[in-house]
Amino acid sequence: MALPQRVFSGVQPTGNLHLGNYLGAITRFVELQDSYDCIYCVVDLHAITVPLSVWGGPEGLRTATRQVTAAFIASGIDPERHIVFNQSQVGEHAELAWVFNCVARLGWLSRMTQFKEKAGKDRENASVGLFAYPNLMAADILVYRATHVPVGEDQKQHLELARDIAAKFNHDFAESIAANGHGEAFFPLTEPLITGPATRVMSLRDGTKKMSKSDSSDYSRINLTDDADTIALKFRKARTDPEPLPTEIDGLADRPEASNLVGIFAALTGRSTDDVLAEFSGPFSRFKEVLVEAAVSKLSPINAEMRRLMSEPDQIDAILTKGAERAQAIARPNMDAVKDIVGLLRR
Ligand code: TYM
Repeated sequence: MALPQRVFSGVQPTGNLHLGNYLGAITRFVELQDSYDCIYCVVDLHAITVPLSVWGGPEGLRTATRQVTAAFIASGIDPERHIVFNQSQVGEHAELAWVFNCVARLGWLSRMTQFKEKAGKDRENASVGLFAYPNLMAADILVYRATHVPVGEDQKQHLELARDIAAKFNHDFAESIAANGHGEAFFPLTEPLITGPATRVMSLRDGTKKMSKSDSSDYSRINLTDDADTIALKFRKARTDPEPLPTEIDGLADRPEASNLVGIFAALTGRSTDDVLAEFSGPFSRFKEVLVEAAVSKLSPINAEMRRLMSEPDQIDAILTKGAERAQAIARPNMDAVKDIVGLLRR
């Protein structure tokens, strides 16, 4: 039986969303709405895997969850046509994650570079949740048996793990899967969708580091909540090298800051890199001005709409609750099927 083509993706409510999240993920989410049934999730259970001081405590988490929801909607995600909700309202995510804790191997998780980066040197002190994070992420996707997952480049390894988990579950329970009428495989091997010119937006201070919420310098990123003056200031201060912009892509080799700014501009305007260089080769100062214009004209309306939505938190909460009900209507039967396959008695 062919499964429906379904997109799932998630964004953590920790700190401010930035241009990397927007160009690498959220703009893709918006585009995919015309071709797939989409489920977009604010992954609040993932947010609490890091220390409380980092995720901001209960009030901070509630606000950040609403803010990511507002960013989704302000960017053009339609919560009527598709599903938007926060992860913790659908208990099946955590339920399936437990089953996956028993499918995934310690060795697989130990190889996750994001865990190594986030845990840093003090591994002993990292939460167990941080270690098992990719299992919950696999559960997010597979509890809907989603077939496609749009993400930025940094999530690639986690999606490979989700495929490994799906494959091992399908293999280990093959007989039971068939006996329960699901044919040869219960979970799909989900396809990552990592496409476009901005799958890895880099820091404005160091073109070799990813733009990230956790960078201590706010000048390293453009936040979706930044106003026009702040955006302009951050791009003007953005690090570049002494050479002018080249006329061709080859001239960007080994120039991470220049490549990053050109990639950002291409993504913001929907133009190809060739096209951008053909028009703007020459001094950075001129290019930075058009870059600021492009960023401000794209982000200002989103910023304004986010503020409007955030002024009515009850409405955001209503959207999340309705989304959670619709999400659960898909997740529950899948979770029941997993219970039957594994041999967990149920009501
Ligand atoms: P998160 O919240 O860190 O990031 C959300 C999305 O933004 C992308 N992204 C970037 N893209 C380009 N350049 C950057 N500098 C950049 N920084 C972040 C991320 O790749 C991501 O697509 N583990 C996930 C959340 C998650 C999830 C899932 C994703 C939980 N469950 C299931 C997909 C499917 C995360 O921490 O994303």
